[in-house]
Amino acid sequence: MSENTITPEMLAVPASPLRERTYVGPSRVLVYAAALLTLGAALIHLAVTPQHFEEYLPYGLFFLAAGAGQIALAVVLVVAPARKLFIVGLAASVGLIALWALSRTVGVPIGPDGAWQPETMGFTDLICTFLELVAAPLFVILSLRRPRLRHRRPVRVALATAPTFLLVALLTFVGTGTARNDMPVAFNAAPAIAGQHSTSVTSLTEAPGPGPVKEFTLTAEEARIGGQVAWTYNGTVPGPELRVTQGDRIKVTLVNHLPAATTIHWHGVVVPNAEDGVAGITQDAVPPGDRYIYEFVAKDTGTYWYHSHQDTTAQLGRGLFGALIVEPPTGNVAEAVDYTAVLHATPDGSGIAVNGTAGDLHVAARPGERVRLRLINAFPPSMDGGPLAPVVFGAAYQVVALDGHDLSQPPPIGPERLPLGMGQRADVVFTMPQSGAVRLAVSALSGQVSSGQKFFPAEAPWHGSLIIGDGPLPAAGNIDQLPLFDLTHYGSAAADPVSTSHFDATYPLVLDETPGFHDGRIELVHTINRQSSPYVPPITVRQGQVIHLHIVNLTGEYHPMHLHGHIFTVLALNGKAIQGSPVHLDTILVGPHEIWDVAFLANNPGIWMLHCHVLLHASFGMSMTVNYAGITTPFEMGSRSGNVPE
Ligand code: C2O
Ligand code: CU
Repeated sequence: MSENTITPEMLAVPASPLRERTYVGPSRVLVYAAALLTLGAALIHLAVTPQHFEEYLPYGLFFLAAGAGQIALAVVLVVAPARKLFIVGLAASVGLIALWALSRTVGVPIGPDGAWQPETMGFTDLICTFLELVAAPLFVILSLRRPRLRHRRPVRVALATAPTFLLVALLTFVGTGTARNDMPVAFNAAPAIAGQHSTSVTSLTEAPGPGPVKEFTLTAEEARIGGQVAWTYNGTVPGPELRVTQGDRIKVTLVNHLPAATTIHWHGVVVPNAEDGVAGITQDAVPPGDRYIYEFVAKDTGTYWYHSHQDTTAQLGRGLFGALIVEPPTGNVAEAVDYTAVLHATPDGSGIAVNGTAGDLHVAARPGERVRLRLINAFPPSMDGGPLAPVVFGAAYQVVALDGHDLSQPPPIGPERLPLGMGQRADVVFTMPQSGAVRLAVSALSGQVSSGQKFFPAEAPWHGSLIIGDGPLPAAGNIDQLPLFDLTHYGSAAADPVSTSHFDATYPLVLDETPGFHDGRIELVHTINRQSSPYVPPITVRQGQVIHLHIVNLTGEYHPMHLHGHIFTVLALNGKAIQGSPVHLDTILVGPHEIWDVAFLANNPGIWMLHCHVLLHASFGMSMTVNYAGITTPFEMGSRSGNVPE
């Protein structure tokens, strides 16, 4: 007898409730499918419940009730299927779908921001609604069909249910995964605890002092550059170079004429925490039309830069960055020519530009003159995070400073490629030859600047370039064959305040990546110690401690790891102590599978970001904070505040 043969018993309507509860038949497959779909939707509802509790208590309760109710429904469907239950299931699915449609179009009569505020559609809620949309017609069929009492072998039932099971399992995995990795509604990196004494980051401002005040205004505004709409400071990319003298009190007014909120971070500068410019940690992002004043004393000389630290991946990529140079107080930089070269992406993202120019830029210098080039890498690399590799041709040169901090007795070298991770700086000094020009060429170390392929044709020796002085150009070598500058063996040893002799605490930072969810897509989620931001547990320090970081890169990518507000001493690469000059950095380039040891003195209280400066990696999770015990922040990141520091 085939499956479809109808027997008189099959047509009989079960007479008693007992019969109905012992319901068996071919439709069991349908019952299981409906139960699985309901269970999947329930799990997704429960996955988003915590974030809805944070957002708005009634929402949290609703999602908890919906999830719990659907789980109960799924269980009863399996153990005691009955027609009434199918009608309940149908009503629940249709009700939830209708409510979802309403909330995404005209809104619902209650909400954290008032009534009738439509919400944006997300990947997670789409998946959940899809599961309910498939379940609804199944419930219709089940409630209309007469129960069949024909027995079907369990194996066949299992086989027939398997495709639904797999589909629901996959969708639920993706749905709950994206729910867990969605930007949180509200996340506070260092919340105040009721009843405990604490200091807010807002009070960590620069103390009054006698330093001469230097005032600047940086207006964040759109401008058309190279046929593209760029986001600029004062209409240019890079923004204006701010040049100050050590000891100056710098007062910068940020005026926001952009259509989005923004901030300014002073990369590498040891500022008081309240002036650090990190949206959601040290301030709220400055809304369009508003202004904000940053004030701090330039304590250390050197080459620094500034950039937005709100939605950084997008805003820095669009042009919101510039150089900040702190000259020594004795009047002048020793070199006759002191030129800053900001290395960044061309407006269309297709290649490397120097100070806004993708071709050759000319810098005036006379034979015999000393020249200092301050190189700043503001170029957002592709996923591999590869550094730029500038090379000076035509003169032997010294690398006199890294990240603005002088090296001890730097010997002349060249030509060598100088790996510069995003965010890093290097000062190189040379003497102009008696005849001919010097050339700075910029290539990418990995040669895999994905967006820049057309910028690196194999036959072209020069990538982004500066020509310093006049006369014939120096001979070109094959740039990709040149040796690499090695900061672990350069210059002479010198005393260092932070040495290997004593650490108050050691923290491993294991950098890794794993397929996961980001903004509703499957991406390589970047992790520190197996967690991704904002859920990487912070490092908690106390003032005066010497903190040792043991950084292990398990990936095949480069990670220039940047610590705000502090300078670290480089101790060792792959377990070997560095030789030569002490090296002080705020951003350390951690190459594929490398292990670096660094240490820093905790001498600047606050809540400080520690993140990969490959902004894609940071936005995919490679970011955390160093928190001083007892310091809290009133600011939060997430969709409620709109503060997105990455
Ligand atoms: Cu240059 Cu946290 O950044
Ligand atoms: Cu990285």
